[in-house]
Amino acid sequence: MAKKTIEDVNVAGKTVLMRVDFNVPLDDQQQITDDRRIRMALPSIESVLKRGGKLILMSHLGRPEGTGFEEAYSLKPVAKRLGELLGQDVTIASDVVGDDAKSKAQTLNDGQVLVLENLRFYKGEKKGDAEFAKQLAEMADIYCNDAFGTCHRTDASMVAVPEAMNGKPKVVGFLVDKEIQYLSDTIANPERPFVAILGGAKVSDKISVIENLLGICDKVLIGGAMAYTFAMAKGGQIGKSLVEKDKIDLATQLMQKGGEKLVLPVDTHCADDFSPNANKQVVAAGQIPDGFEGLDIGPKTAEMYAQILKDAKTVVWNGPMGVFEMPPFDEGTKAVAQAIADSDATSIIGGGDSAAAIEQLGFADRVTHVSTGGGASLAMLEGQKFAAVELLDEK
Ligand code: 3PG
Ligand code: MG
Repeated sequence: MAKKTIEDVNVAGKTVLMRVDFNVPLDDQQQITDDRRIRMALPSIESVLKRGGKLILMSHLGRPEGTGFEEAYSLKPVAKRLGELLGQDVTIASDVVGDDAKSKAQTLNDGQVLVLENLRFYKGEKKGDAEFAKQLAEMADIYCNDAFGTCHRTDASMVAVPEAMNGKPKVVGFLVDKEIQYLSDTIANPERPFVAILGGAKVSDKISVIENLLGICDKVLIGGAMAYTFAMAKGGQIGKSLVEKDKIDLATQLMQKGGEKLVLPVDTHCADDFSPNANKQVVAAGQIPDGFEGLDIGPKTAEMYAQILKDAKTVVWNGPMGVFEMPPFDEGTKAVAQAIADSDATSIIGGGDSAAAIEQLGFADRVTHVSTGGGASLAMLEGQKFAAVELLDEK
């Protein structure tokens, strides 16, 4: 059930309303610290502009109050960066459905681009308000969703706006198309062995992903702090490691369901304090001394995981193996990233921390796909269907 893409519609002389996810990280000087989400939307943006379409871009940024303009959440730095990347002027409206946006939208010429201010300056966005959606829908002839990072949301710009554009073309952009191809289609029909490697702090965040992937993968490797909840469920000693005591039963059930498919660490790199100067030691999994906490998988686990990844034909990775930002507890994550980069497998990296790790290590070009979605990529790995995508036109 492939969706029509922006390439399938004639945009010349038409106005395209494109929902993008320009929710990029900013420092306290309002400087963009990672512009990947902007760069990844360029193919769709350029496709419209080159073919003589008029382009209106809409996005949220952060979580403002919803009571009007807030400088800290303005899309101005994003519009500026987009202009640099495109090498052309990018106009920004000071509102979304106000007079400035409406007049700027009406005077757009073919091949020009307008960025609306942050959608979440209006309560109607999060509420999915029909009146707010109608005003946006009236601005354009074509709707395009290229906001993969937001596809798990049902905000107005994702659902109510395309619904209000009845009879007009509603398509996906190239980024959403590609994300679905890897995070859904490839996974549904993987070349085997298919290995998933999951890290991060909490079992509770990853339960549905683990459950879904246990049903389709050949191996699911576990790292990160959630390994300590599993270790505790097995009756191990976990010292003062981060655990979710209320998830012990669940961890036990997942181990029963997974059997040999679910692979847990065999050793742990731990420390007596959450600091680079702490006393550190490597111990067998489930033998963390009192006063110590696990901060990374140990070297034996890293070696074992690297071996399993080496033989895989499809790999999905979501979540770091340890405290990646505090060396030496980045070693497990580095070893796993290296093994994935070295393998010939189709490799799919979930968004958020694992995407950041792959980028920082300079391996982004050596994996098949790095997702721009955090929550959205997890939801897709859980096997969820997205309303914001379902309602778009079929090929
Ligand atoms: C994200 O970064 O997770 C997306 O942009 C969605 O943002 P949200 O979690 O605030 O809805
Ligand atoms: Mg989020």
